[in-house]
Amino acid sequence: NPRTCYCKAPLHVLRMFQFNFLFFLFFLPCSLTGKEPLALFPLSVSTSEPLSAKVHLKQCELLKVSRKQKRLCRREPGLAETLRDSVRLSLLECQYQFRNERWNCSLDGRASLLKRGFKETAFLYAVSSAALTHSLAKACSSGRMERCTCDDSPDLENREAWQWGVCGDNLKYSTKFLKNFLGQRRISKDLRARVDMHNTNVGVKAVKSGLKTTCKCHGVSGSCAVRTCWKQLSPFHETGKLLKHKYETAIKVFSVTNDATGEAELVSPKKHSHSLKHHSPRSTDLVYMEDSPSYCRTGKYSPGTAGRICSKETNCDSMCCGRGYNTQSRVVKFSCHCQVQWCCYVECQQCMQEEEVYTCKK
Ligand SMILES: *[C@@H]1O[C@H](CO)[C@@H](O)[C@H](O)[C@H]1NC(C)=O
Repeated sequence: NPRTCYCKAPLHVLRMFQFNFLFFLFFLPCSLTGKEPLALFPLSVSTSEPLSAKVHLKQCELLKVSRKQKRLCRREPGLAETLRDSVRLSLLECQYQFRNERWNCSLDGRASLLKRGFKETAFLYAVSSAALTHSLAKACSSGRMERCTCDDSPDLENREAWQWGVCGDNLKYSTKFLKNFLGQRRISKDLRARVDMHNTNVGVKAVKSGLKTTCKCHGVSGSCAVRTCWKQLSPFHETGKLLKHKYETAIKVFSVTNDATGEAELVSPKKHSHSLKHHSPRSTDLVYMEDSPSYCRTGKYSPGTAGRICSKETNCDSMCCGRGYNTQSRVVKFSCHCQVQWCCYVECQQCMQEEEVYTCKK
């Protein structure tokens, strides 16, 4: 019989619950209106029905993208849906990665943010292109696109995989498509455009770096007489984590004109004061041009941090920007003292505990 007990659990346990819940949320559909200004693809697709051919064409017409992109969309049944998936994926990942930051990837102020050259802008470009690359490769291998299927790299391992009906994620197709779709035009003189393009490519590379070959053995009692392998992308969560790390170590750049070619180049400041040469950022580094605002108060770029939940031990001071925080008590129920019963179920008690919630003052 479930008993009720009261206990005060350490806060980090509570946080864990909160995070698991967030993680869970991740796989639930979220309802975007399609009007949100998202990096790269300001889509207005909102249906979640599987699309027939006719509907597909209509969906492509509705996309707020260039004429060329519409044409590419019409040629690719399944694309409109995949684009929508990727927008959702990038939004949820961004909000998850920034859940403890002052800027929490809110859609408020997104349009203004995308026009600037902050670190946050860099992250948005990278996470959007990574999500599209990921979603496309997955859509190919799961048979949701008509014009691409499994990874068909012409190596032996892969042909064996085909025999066994294992379908590898088609990253080759998705990166090629993305390049075409975004139209990597001749490098623009405009610094902003180059920075955006650079960060877009960092996103694609981050997905690529997570591509792993997975193998499976077949044969008498695990003898591995036959081994089949296929390419598999890591969960998008890992890509998000990698990009968040790149955000934290992003490099500030400016533009110089290359005397030889007359073209503008992105460079970061000299590493050592005695070296004369600037150096170019690596193609795996996120780059930005301007220092970010504090995101403390409601403004053009964010709704501010008033009312945000913070953790007293770790981030209330910085999250609340020194304005202080309110403390509230609330009681939460959860399963506890769980025991496995013979045979075969788990019996838990219901526990309640009081937790303190800290929210930033106005
Ligand atoms: C982000 O912060 C704003 C302002 O405090 C809040 O209204 C919003 O719900 C937060 N968004 C997420 C996804 O946590």
